[in-house]
Amino acid sequence: MIQTHLHDDVLEILLDNAPVNALGAGVRQAVAAAVDEAQSDARVRAIVIRGNGKLFSAGADITEFGKPLAHPSLPQVVDAIEASRKPVVAAIHGMALGGGLEVALGCHYRIATPKAKLGLPEVTLGILPGAGGTQRLPRLVGVEAALGMIVTGSPILGSKAAEIGLIDQLSTDESLAADALAFARTVDGPRRTGERNVSADPALFERFAIDNARAIKNLDAPKACIEAVKAAAELPLDKGQEKERALFTALVTGDQSKALRHVFFAERAAAKIEGLSKDVQLRPIARVGVIGAGTMGGGISMNFLSAGIPVTIVEMAQEALDRGAGLIRKNYEATAAKGRLTTEQVEKAVGLLNPTLDFGALDDCDLIIEAVYENMDVKKEIFARLDKVAKPGAILASNTSYLSIDEIASATARPQDVLGLHFFSPANIMKLVEVVRGAETAQDVLATGMDLARRIGKVPVVSGVCYGFIGNRMLIPRQENANALLLEGATPEQVDRVHTTFGMPMGPFQMADLAGVDIGWHRDASRIENVREALCAQGRWGQKTKAGYYDYDEKRKPTPSPVVAEIVQEFRQKSGITPREISDEEIVTRTLYTMVNEGAKILEEGIAQRASDIDVVWNYGYGWPRYKGGPMFWAEQVGLSHVVAALQKYENALGETFSLSPLLVRCAAEGKPLDRPDVR
Ligand code: 3HC
Repeated sequence: MIQTHLHDDVLEILLDNAPVNALGAGVRQAVAAAVDEAQSDARVRAIVIRGNGKLFSAGADITEFGKPLAHPSLPQVVDAIEASRKPVVAAIHGMALGGGLEVALGCHYRIATPKAKLGLPEVTLGILPGAGGTQRLPRLVGVEAALGMIVTGSPILGSKAAEIGLIDQLSTDESLAADALAFARTVDGPRRTGERNVSADPALFERFAIDNARAIKNLDAPKACIEAVKAAAELPLDKGQEKERALFTALVTGDQSKALRHVFFAERAAAKIEGLSKDVQLRPIARVGVIGAGTMGGGISMNFLSAGIPVTIVEMAQEALDRGAGLIRKNYEATAAKGRLTTEQVEKAVGLLNPTLDFGALDDCDLIIEAVYENMDVKKEIFARLDKVAKPGAILASNTSYLSIDEIASATARPQDVLGLHFFSPANIMKLVEVVRGAETAQDVLATGMDLARRIGKVPVVSGVCYGFIGNRMLIPRQENANALLLEGATPEQVDRVHTTFGMPMGPFQMADLAGVDIGWHRDASRIENVREALCAQGRWGQKTKAGYYDYDEKRKPTPSPVVAEIVQEFRQKSGITPREISDEEIVTRTLYTMVNEGAKILEEGIAQRASDIDVVWNYGYGWPRYKGGPMFWAEQVGLSHVVAALQKYENALGETFSLSPLLVRCAAEGKPLDRPDVR
């Protein structure tokens, strides 16, 4: 867990717990013992703590949360370091995060590389720094800087840390170890941060909360962080630490932190491909082709351009090509105008784009992504052409949102090279990519797709082939029930409010208006069989026409629409439905529990590898609130038996096509979580 080396009169404690030097019980015990022994070892004048491998430490071992605490606790270790009678220097490279930075704050001096990342990201896990970080950081860098770091959780660079007084000296990766030893020999003695005082105008905390109200809305942890930092300005260290501990304990046992920790591990699990053979080699991807310069094709291209990967983008008409390429440039320039890119970066990215009408120009691409509209015949024709043009070994991908990758692959003589790469709109921003594994997709093709998605900063999730894959398939029962609820007596506002109160960024009708009510419409204004078709026939296509399920003003602010109410009423009459009072609980059951039920089917059919993958899809593709973990995690929190009972209660209203997932019913009855492979 650690190594200790005596370099003449300086003891070096090397944290050695790969991969991230997490401060689990073993590390804590070893560090505490080494510091303690050094106190009475006459050979030791000073101590240096450094991390072995690529970083100092990523903090407390998150897997230990929720389990009985093994002593010594991290706060005890940090206190022991600070109490050391011999000076202790932290030597930081790579990262010092969370408890890692708190250990460094317990040290009397800090030396770091300019590129090291120092941060307290606990808030992203629904907790606060619980080993003195909320008390020592403000004492060292002032309340304002500390609040910024602790409440946002964003790390700062070593160079910046030196500017604000968090770091005493900068060094390089190569000389850090030697510099730290030399530094330790120059210092007079301990210099304890906990003995400092810090003060602040009490109004500062309120102002900070107001300024950050949007970012911290609905979240418990940021508010607790502010309270803890306030305690640092008002109380002596030990009392402040008591406060910090109490807040930490309340948060770590709360539902939000459980959900956020679940999301942390779910994201990492999603990157893993079940059954992947160890010796699979990735295919090199140096140039990407994109077919279709529409909104999706353009957005997809930007991901690669931003990552420095050249893109050949193909269209059928010059006008469409010019429009697409122009939009890519415009998007980059808009980002530059906000100060998030330099002009050089814009030119570099745009310079990597090769717009062309020549389909044959795709012959040197290692990966080609088709992003044309959803029509199987069109897609099959494109893949048949691609089969002739693409070089051997090139990966052929479709960005289809619903269609069968297997059928698309059948248009080629190389189905092993075909997979789905389903990006979400806007594709240059949304993090999720469903990587769709066809029946014949080769292992190295799937692994390359996953790896590449990560290289361009996405969160990839493996999905099997089914209509709508994981995310969109789960939207189907949600939208069907939302539509039915409208006829039965609910309003779009009520259904959407239930979803936004739950924490979703928008409800089903707001989403329809944003995406376009006319998506997938048959375009025949004389054929009207439901409310949506009536809206489409009247040109109420959503936000883009300033009217959909809502009316919109110039600023796209929605108001309930009397026209929609009238259309709904007409359909009620036609269908002989007498509207009734619809409870919020019924809306939750019929629109959210039905999604959980569909998710369980997706799991038992093997479309998703694990329940947590479904959660990742909903977090990153649809804005499911991370503090509620994701639909499958949330269902387990609510209780699977409760979900099943509620669905049974409304079974008659759920339509003839509804059926309960046998897996869900079995897990609920047996009290087992959904993820267990033995129940699949
Ligand atoms: N505890 C336990 N395991 C951890 C961990 C931690 N703090 N940090 C990372 N890991 C594990 C990951 O789960 C992963 O395991 P796997 O290989 O089995 O999937 C492995 O280490 C490698 O992690 P990543 O795949 O994330 O590696 P990257 O190189 O992409 O990222 C990182 C490295 C930026 C350090 C990232 O892992 C990270 O953000 N870690 C969490 C940092 C954090 O939130 N620290 C605060 C912890 S809470 C705390 O300290 C409380 C204290 O105040 C009391």
